[in-house]
Amino acid sequence: MSTAIPSEMRVLALGNYYEDLNDAIQNLRVTQKPTPQPGPGQVLVQIAAAPCNPSDLVFIQGLYGVTKTLPAVPGWEGAGTVVASGGGVIANWLKGKRVACGGQSESDGTWADYYLADAKTCVPLRKNISFEEGASLIVNPLTAWALIDEAKKGKHRGIVQTAAASQLGRMILHLATDAEIPLVNIVRRQEQEDILKSLGAEFVLNSASDNFEEQLRNACHRLRTTICFDAVSGDMTGMVLNAMPERSTVIVYGVLSYSPAGGIDGRELIFGQKQVKSFWLTPWIRSAGILRIYQAFGQIQNRIADGSFATHVRQKLKLEDVPSGLMEYQRQMTSGKILIAPQQG
Ligand SMILES: NC(=O)c1ccc[n+]([C@@H]2O[C@H](COP(=O)([O-])OP(=O)(O)OC[C@H]3O[C@@H](n4cnc5c(N)ncnc54)[C@H](OP(=O)(O)O)[C@@H]3O)[C@@H](O)[C@H]2O)c1
Repeated sequence: MSTAIPSEMRVLALGNYYEDLNDAIQNLRVTQKPTPQPGPGQVLVQIAAAPCNPSDLVFIQGLYGVTKTLPAVPGWEGAGTVVASGGGVIANWLKGKRVACGGQSESDGTWADYYLADAKTCVPLRKNISFEEGASLIVNPLTAWALIDEAKKGKHRGIVQTAAASQLGRMILHLATDAEIPLVNIVRRQEQEDILKSLGAEFVLNSASDNFEEQLRNACHRLRTTICFDAVSGDMTGMVLNAMPERSTVIVYGVLSYSPAGGIDGRELIFGQKQVKSFWLTPWIRSAGILRIYQAFGQIQNRIADGSFATHVRQKLKLEDVPSGLMEYQRQMTSGKILIAPQQG
């Protein structure tokens, strides 16, 4: 390891899981830890920027599909410079390169000065992609790509999505528009309707409006939307499934409501031959195969560069200021991500 790398690094550590989100955020602490040494096939990435996604919030609440031994460092993705290699062809080749990195192993995450990455999973950043853009290159873009791929493979003529003004929802909007697949976007506030319309969305429904369910049923039947990407869960899952035409599928990929999927009319399921499925990126990456992933990352970098996969950032914060930034983010997520910048002075 180069002598320029300090033996200790600063991390934002989670000492305990707290189901109450405010408690979980307020108990994050900046602490020192030994800087990890990369082993064969690993690289050490000096983190320049790392986002907080809804899955990070669910993780610090102890409600995610992966838990880590505590104290733990959260952060599923980020971007930075490879400053050391533990050996191996790919790891050595990456040394000095700017990369997007991440993963969902039980080891420490990206909310730290340094992150130990599996070299095979690092994505070298093109020159025209900044660290800020590269920080959100993996989780949301790959999920949007995979979901639209599912809709195309299933030859669905129309799509519905919930929480449509999320950063990921905006990516789905761009992909659906380019694929010429009609998309019904469900939001919960007027501001979100305005954002999506400004991005070119044709069909936007507000779940807070009086006749929402009727509007939804009409739109789903008129546009033959037979697949839904649902990030909300709770009653929304049943509401959409019940409104969709026969042989429709709702894919639940988020739990923003923190409620069990409900309100599903069993008769719609049985006689309408409908189904509810799930999507989780982690097993999808494992099963997708390296060629498909490379193809996806090529297209994703093109889209980040042309602005259609831009992730809006509300604040870039040093480690100490992250808890107060996260309190703001969880109160109102549409305004954009908190980007953690450990090197920021
Ligand atoms: N399954 C997977 O592998 C996978 C991968 C990537 C992302 N995801 C999921 O994708 C979703 C979007 O992620 P993101 O990073 O794009 O989110 P984001 O940009 O942080 O935005 C979240 C959006 O959801 C809205 N929202 C929050 N709670 C809601 C609720 N109870 N009902 C309706 N809308 C609600 C927010 O609106 P307000 O401004 O009103 O709060 C905001 O527009 C998340 O659920 C995330 O976990 C899943």
